[in-house]
Amino acid sequence: MRFRYNALLLSCLLIIGCKEKNSIEYRIDETLRQLTLDEKIALIHAQSKFSSKGVPRLGIPELWCDDGPHGVRPETLWDEWDTASWTNDSCTAFPSLTCLAASWDRSLAEEYGKNLGEEARYRGKNVLLGPGVNICRTPLCGRNFEYMGEDPYLSGQMSVPYIKGLQSNKVAACVKHYALNNQEYERLQVNVNVDERTLQEIYLPAFRMAVQDGGAWSLMSSYNKFQNEWVSHNSYLLKDILKDGWNWDGAVISDWGAVHDTDGAANGGLDLEFGSHTNGVDQNVANAYDSYYMAQPYKEKLKEGTLSESELDDKVRRVLRLHFRTASDGYFGKMCTDEHYEVCRKIGAEGIVLLKNAGILPMKKEARKIVVLGENAIRPMVVGGSSSSLKAQHEISPLEGIRRAYPDAEVVYERAYYSGEPTPGKYNYSQYDITETRSAEKLIEDALAAVENADYVIFIGGLNKNKKQDCEGKDRLSYDLPYNQNEVIENIAERCPDLIYVNISGSPVAMPFRDKVGAILQGWYLGSETGNAIADVLTGKVNPSGKLPFTFPSKLEDGPIRTERQYPGVTDGQGRLQVYYDEGLYVGYRWYDKHNITTLFPFGYGMSYTTFEYGEAKASSHTMKDRLTISIPVKNTGKSAGAEVVQLYIHDQESTVDRPEKELKGFEKIWLEPGETKTVTFTIGKDALSFYDVEKHGWVAEKGAFTALVGASSTDIRSSITFDLK
Ligand code: GLC
Repeated sequence: MRFRYNALLLSCLLIIGCKEKNSIEYRIDETLRQLTLDEKIALIHAQSKFSSKGVPRLGIPELWCDDGPHGVRPETLWDEWDTASWTNDSCTAFPSLTCLAASWDRSLAEEYGKNLGEEARYRGKNVLLGPGVNICRTPLCGRNFEYMGEDPYLSGQMSVPYIKGLQSNKVAACVKHYALNNQEYERLQVNVNVDERTLQEIYLPAFRMAVQDGGAWSLMSSYNKFQNEWVSHNSYLLKDILKDGWNWDGAVISDWGAVHDTDGAANGGLDLEFGSHTNGVDQNVANAYDSYYMAQPYKEKLKEGTLSESELDDKVRRVLRLHFRTASDGYFGKMCTDEHYEVCRKIGAEGIVLLKNAGILPMKKEARKIVVLGENAIRPMVVGGSSSSLKAQHEISPLEGIRRAYPDAEVVYERAYYSGEPTPGKYNYSQYDITETRSAEKLIEDALAAVENADYVIFIGGLNKNKKQDCEGKDRLSYDLPYNQNEVIENIAERCPDLIYVNISGSPVAMPFRDKVGAILQGWYLGSETGNAIADVLTGKVNPSGKLPFTFPSKLEDGPIRTERQYPGVTDGQGRLQVYYDEGLYVGYRWYDKHNITTLFPFGYGMSYTTFEYGEAKASSHTMKDRLTISIPVKNTGKSAGAEVVQLYIHDQESTVDRPEKELKGFEKIWLEPGETKTVTFTIGKDALSFYDVEKHGWVAEKGAFTALVGASSTDIRSSITFDLK
């Protein structure tokens, strides 16, 4: 008997011992033991627009969140969406995440997260509400610019280092919007219908990588419904898959206004309720915090005994873990440093994608007259887009950047087109007054007059951050460029066949003028250093190396979405908006491959000012048991140094289920001097060959033949090799 008692005592001591005194888990146990019910309840819901309570009695500070994925949002009022008009909260506006994704550069993503995290730390934030990793399912989604494209592997791989960099500052990432928030149209109520395999293979992997590889400390539950249940109450998504399936110890924070009742929130796996009684953009019920679903109503149900305190304790543990992981330990981050601006400029220049170049670019240094056209050459883009809108300490416009790059040239600006829309946001600090009085015809006439004898004509156009453009809360209504730009561009291109078109957008757009201009750059929203990054690429100071994170179809109808039920959805017999992902796995290049559709610009495509030659792909063995290495030499055969993103796709030659033609399962970015060769090596495991088996509810790699395809884009495969999975 005595022996058994000693063994029990020893094991208890061991358990306590492994939670050494100052460990977070020990502190959670110690704190939980002391908390009153009121203190527990206070921890799991907001006390203001962007903060939740700590435990004053126990010295646990408040928890502060802030947007957004590209920079730290300016302070809002305590209980309003309005800006607090502070004068010390201007930030570095980093490029949008589509630009980061387009860099395909994991180490750059870590730098991005680290530098952004320094600013969030300095501003006293525990949680930064980003990155967004929702898949670009339709080019019309208003928030594509905040996300990382159409492929789950690319989105996941680029979010992992960003999260690590951010969290190295003890600022929690809050990966959003988990899950299936792929449209803004009626986002607050649409129910998403998607089959289990598509959910697991397309819409969840980026979140899984963010959690399992990135170690994200929090996730944001999305507004929409799944299985006709609010995602913030959906225990299948929040518990079965996220917390139990992926063995995650973090906290689920609701989107702002995404919680709808107490039982659902209490039992569905939500941990921290924010923004209730608001639409997440502007509406508000003042000081509603005690009436939050996980506030007094929750307490009453606990007292009645209809809800369990053990469920509450799990929430409290996860929220305390978020507090303790992000408590300041004397490190205070930094704000608007030279390094932040250098990184901002570097990400911008590395994310820009050269889509066409008929020998026009890079521009010559000795240009004497340069004509810059288009509203987007001067329009501030850091403001707008809704929650990711920022108050940047500065924003170098494309025009300004080009002027700085050519101080001795005559740089003429002409508007050429006018949106008629003021820049959104409450703090338009643009140094250019962008109002315009001339007619559309006069604008074209003046532009045509200006281009005479120009060495270069650069048209800066695209979308902007206004509603129904690249902006949260609404989707675009057309795939075309707005404000009659197509006509204006074609008009000018007639006079200047070497026209350089720079497209500023966070989504794919139609470019019917592609064959009528001399060069095309996809410019993204590049933040504080926009003009410098664009000028760096135009002048060749930086050799472009970006590759598209999503396909540019020639026209919207070429894409997988063909019916209203697929998008924007249809109302069912009970008046509920239902959207059906009938295209299943066939999103983006998976669709265009399957139907052999030629696109305007394919996924993974991007040019350089130099050229690269690929050798033969080789496999470490012709049969794979657990691992296999694929290697390929790549040579810079041009005259300038440059970077190439070598992509690995896998094709399953003999699967028992329908599978996409090929799927991205690896990429490496390499820098090569002229004439230099490097061998790129990919090591793949069974996970790269697997599909999700809905019978087994798990991943399966079937024995048989596979092909590894290595290329410079999804439609430019340079070498392939077949191997067998034993
Ligand atoms: C918004 C957005 C979310 C943002 C939150 C707080 O409605 O959906 O991305 O972080 O509310 O502004």
